[in-house]
Amino acid sequence: MAGPPLYVSRLLPEPVMSMLVARFTLTARPTIDPPTPDALRSGLSVAEYAICTLTERIDATLLDTISGLRVIANYAVGYNNIDVAAAQARGIIVTNTPDVLTETTADLTWTLLLATARRLIEGHDLVHSGVWAGWEPTQLLGTEVFGKTLGIIGMGRIGRAVAGRAAGFGMSVLYPSRGVSREPDVPAIGQAVALEDLLGRADFVSLHVPLTKETRHLIGDAELRRMRPSAILLNTSRGPVVDEAALVAALQEGRIAGAGLDVYEYEPSIHPGLLQLKQVVLLPHLGSATLSCRVRMGMVCLENLEAVRSGRPAPNRVTAVPIKEKGPPDSPTDPSSS
Ligand code: GLV
Ligand code: GLV
Repeated sequence: MAGPPLYVSRLLPEPVMSMLVARFTLTARPTIDPPTPDALRSGLSVAEYAICTLTERIDATLLDTISGLRVIANYAVGYNNIDVAAAQARGIIVTNTPDVLTETTADLTWTLLLATARRLIEGHDLVHSGVWAGWEPTQLLGTEVFGKTLGIIGMGRIGRAVAGRAAGFGMSVLYPSRGVSREPDVPAIGQAVALEDLLGRADFVSLHVPLTKETRHLIGDAELRRMRPSAILLNTSRGPVVDEAALVAALQEGRIAGAGLDVYEYEPSIHPGLLQLKQVVLLPHLGSATLSCRVRMGMVCLENLEAVRSGRPAPNRVTAVPIKEKGPPDSPTDPSSS
């Protein structure tokens, strides 16, 4: 059955692809790998509908070369890869996939927290190396988690889900009282304190803000210097929220104890300094990486495309409202963000 032309930038898991193929006509055959800039342009140029992922940068220059596109469903909650203002100015609707990946990403954040605190990867490597000689009273001593203080920067849906899990670990939760950290419709968990206070008190600092002009390098040298030498930084949001060079310096100089990272400033390039440090756990952007989550994300994209197709408002439309200083974490998008 020939439906309207749809560009899908990368192969999505089943049954998402089959459902898309049943309703639309694909303008290009998606592959596991990201499209080249030329393939992206030519696939979009003949499409009315599109599903793109966070690896496709869609800016004004690209949008100027295409016409006829009605909607881009971004297969992610974060949409810093798209110049939403430029799309909006050209009448193209942009949507994202909130809610369906909140708990999945919160689980992954805790995976990183525990793995970093308890030196999981070092222990695994020791066993695999074949040289483990047995239990030792001083072997791979880690950081206690139970009863500690967790600082959540970005008390939106994901930040709140991470904070909720902290109750089981008897932790106190802090979040910044002002600035980038709140989403009006998400009730906060924990105690609101000044950001400087949070950084000075938290044993774990976890980042859950979207990437905008305000949040780029939100954690830089000054913020890292406020953290405790025993503290661990966790980032499952977007790499550029952290000044990676400053982080490497802080880790090398022992100014903080460790880091658990799922995202990188120049993804997929990793700062070479990070690769040399034992006290960091590095994951390849796995926040939403479960099959059921990735299927739910596909369904949300499809719902948004179908809404536009039938003339209804797209349920997960995102817009480029002017950036307000205390704006909710995921409303404004800075077009210059990558
Ligand atoms: C993943 O990083 C997302 O924004 O969905
Ligand atoms: C932000 O991306 C959120 O879901 O909290």
